[in-house]
Amino acid sequence: MFDFAGKKAFITGGTRGIGLAIAAKMARAGADVAVNYLRNRAAADEARAVLLDASGGKEPLLLKGNVSKDEDIEKMFSEISDKWGRLDYLVSNAASGVLKPSKELTHHHWQWTLDINAYALLALARHAIPMMKGTDGKGTGKIVAVSSLGSIRAFNNYAAVGASKGALESLVRHLAIEYASQGINVNAVSASVVDTDALKHFPNREVMLQESLHWMPAKKLVTPEDVANAVQIMCSDLTNMVHGHTFIVDGGLSIFLPG
Ligand SMILES: NC(=O)c1ccc[n+]([C@@H]2O[C@H](COP(=O)([O-])OP(=O)(O)OC[C@H]3O[C@@H](n4cnc5c(N)ncnc54)[C@H](OP(=O)(O)O)[C@@H]3O)[C@@H](O)[C@H]2O)c1
Repeated sequence: MFDFAGKKAFITGGTRGIGLAIAAKMARAGADVAVNYLRNRAAADEARAVLLDASGGKEPLLLKGNVSKDEDIEKMFSEISDKWGRLDYLVSNAASGVLKPSKELTHHHWQWTLDINAYALLALARHAIPMMKGTDGKGTGKIVAVSSLGSIRAFNNYAAVGASKGALESLVRHLAIEYASQGINVNAVSASVVDTDALKHFPNREVMLQESLHWMPAKKLVTPEDVANAVQIMCSDLTNMVHGHTFIVDGGLSIFLPG
């Protein structure tokens, strides 16, 4: 449906789960893709095969680095700059976080979670925006952050991650107004529970999946593909006048009041 031929896209955490679905969709639409991962090289190699297939044989750029570390971000952007010299889309998707009741959360847990889930966008955007200049010197880029319903709703064991996603969505709004006049759109796509590897870290995974499905007005879970569709819309020209918005993909869950 979308034509991103010749466009350059960088998707953090693009080797697994939702990030890989986003990268594959961008590659299928013709974009050159760079995907980042932290340490799982086997998954990165599998992602490479998926992306080669999706793009019809175009080699993706695989970038290893921690999105919460300035020096790693600098190195990854230097590789992107050497390879492409510019960037059209940044999807800040990689996330982590400590899942514990609030009384067990330490300052270290908080810092770790906020750094990866919120600070990363600030640091990534700082490098991406100067690479989004068009030929007229004005920007033409799209930045999309991937968030979750924990930013506006509360879940067991999710205090640190939920707070980090709240910070992320606020940062999206602030970046959006800062860069709107340069022709750069900054938005978020938020989702309810998606059955990816990330859920293996939740102590209450099975209950979360069952309860989400039970309360979902759409009566089915959101898939990585559903989230990737929304990211693609946010990267397209259809949303050129959408700035600082959080596009919620949740089958109606967050607006549903049972009763
Ligand atoms: N799954 C859900 O229910 C759900 C719901 C709503 C929103 N989301 C959001 O969707 C996004 C993707 O989630 P997912 O479920 O697809 O995750 P996932 O399957 O756990 O994949 C995470 C990806 O991020 C990378 N990563 C993790 N920490 C990183 C770091 N510090 N620096 C660089 N890369 C890092 C991982 O690399 P390695 O493979 O090397 O570890 C992997 O590629 C996240 O922002 C998440 O909050 C998820």
